[in-house]
Amino acid sequence: MELVDAPHSKCGTFGFVGSSPTAPTFLMNTYQRFPLELVRGKGCWVWDKEGNKYLDAIAGIATCSLGHSHRKLTNALNKQLRKIQHVSNLFFIPEQEDLAEWLIKNSCAESVFFCNSGAEANEAAIKLARKYGHIQRGIKNPIILSAKSSFHGRTLAALSATGQEKYHKNFGPLLEGFDFFSFNSSKSFQDLQEKIEKELPRISAVLIEPIQGEGGIFPGENDFFHFLRDFCTKNKILLIFDEVQSGMGRTGKLWGYEQFQIEPDAFTLAKGLGGGHAIGALLVKESANIFELGDHASTFGGNPFACKAALTVAKEIENANLLENVNSRGKQIRLGLRQIVNDYPNHFNEVRGVGLMQGLVIKEGSHLNSQIITRKTIEEGLLTIGAGPKVIRIVPPLIIKEKEVNQLIIRLRKSIKGLIC
Ligand SMILES: Cc1ncc(COP(=O)(O)O)c(C=O)c1O
Repeated sequence: MELVDAPHSKCGTFGFVGSSPTAPTFLMNTYQRFPLELVRGKGCWVWDKEGNKYLDAIAGIATCSLGHSHRKLTNALNKQLRKIQHVSNLFFIPEQEDLAEWLIKNSCAESVFFCNSGAEANEAAIKLARKYGHIQRGIKNPIILSAKSSFHGRTLAALSATGQEKYHKNFGPLLEGFDFFSFNSSKSFQDLQEKIEKELPRISAVLIEPIQGEGGIFPGENDFFHFLRDFCTKNKILLIFDEVQSGMGRTGKLWGYEQFQIEPDAFTLAKGLGGGHAIGALLVKESANIFELGDHASTFGGNPFACKAALTVAKEIENANLLENVNSRGKQIRLGLRQIVNDYPNHFNEVRGVGLMQGLVIKEGSHLNSQIITRKTIEEGLLTIGAGPKVIRIVPPLIIKEKEVNQLIIRLRKSIKGLIC
C-alpha cells in the first residue's frame, strides 16, 4: 500500500478526508469520533486504512509518550508477553516493584498504589483523603476542595471532584463532600479564602491539577500554588496533585509540581505513564501513607505487562534525555503558535501551556471553534484536539523532532488559513 500525505483541502471547506468511518452500530454512542480509522503508527505519525499519513499531535490524548511502535517499548512488551502477562496482586510482582522503585527514586513520594486509569487513580486519592480526614484529623464528614474548570475523570467520585457542570448533568446525585474554588485566583485568593473560612474544620484535602488540561490548558500560577501549599501545611490538610495529564515529563519536568518548586503530599498519574498502555498510580509521601491491608485493591492494577510498559517509558525519558526535548520542542511550538496569534488577531488571542502541553486560544467572537479547526487539520494531515470549545490542544509524543514541529505549525497554519480566507 502506498503511504501518502493526507490530501490538501480547498479554501473554506472542511469536508471529510481519509478513510470513511465505519458505523459502530454495536457501540454505545458516547464518543464524538473524528471521521478517521487509524490502522498503523510509527513515531509521531499515524496512517488511516487508505494509506493517508497524519502527524499526531494528540498522542492518544497526551498518552503515547514514546509515539507509536517505539522499538524499545515494542521489544520489551513482546518479551514480557512471552514471559508472563498477568498475575493477581496476591502475588509478589517484580515488574511492579521495579517501576515503584523508579517512581520513588525520581519523585517526592515514598510509596505507590497501582491501578489502570486516571479516574481510578483519583478514586484512590479521594478514598485516601477521606480516610486521612477521619483518622488523622477526626473529621466526621470530610470535604475535599477542588478547582472550578478542573477535570478528574468520569467515575462517580472523580466526577464529583470535577469542577465542570457539563460533566455532571443527568448523573446526580453526585457524591457529597466536595466543594470548588476558582483556579489561579492569586490576585486576592478571595474565593478560596471564603471557602476556607466557611469549611476549614471539615477540609481534609485539596485536589488540584498543576496545569488544567481538559478545562482549557491553564498553567497554575506560582503564587497561588505556594499559597495552597502553605495553607495545607498550616492546617494539616493533604495537598493532592492530579498529574494524570501533566506527569511523566509532559511539562518538561518529570512532574508538574516541579514547575512551582513545591511538593504535594500525594499525586496521581496515568496517561503518559504507560506510553499507551493502561496503568494509573497514586503516589504518597510519608504524611499520606495511610492505606492499610485491605483498604484498596485492583484486579488488573500494576500487572507485569503494564508495569513493564511504564518502566520502559520511564527509562527512555531518562536515557534519551526526553525532558530536554520536551523543553526545546515546547518552545518551538509556542513560537509557532504565537506567530499564528500575531497573524490572525481577530481569531486567536493567546497561547497557554508548558512544555508539550500547549493550547492555542480562540478569541471570543471568532466564528472558529475547536471542533471546526480539529476537523480541518485532518485535511492537512495533522491530528489536533480541543480542550473545550475555545482551545486547540497540542500534546504530541515527547519524542517529537524539530522538523516534525515545523510540519505541525505549517499544517496548522494552512488549516487556519483555509478556514478564514
Ligand atoms: C487531569 C486528568 N485527570 C483524570 C483524567 C481521567 O483519566 P482517565 O480517562 O484515564 O480515567 C484525565 C483525563 O483526561 C485528566 O486529564
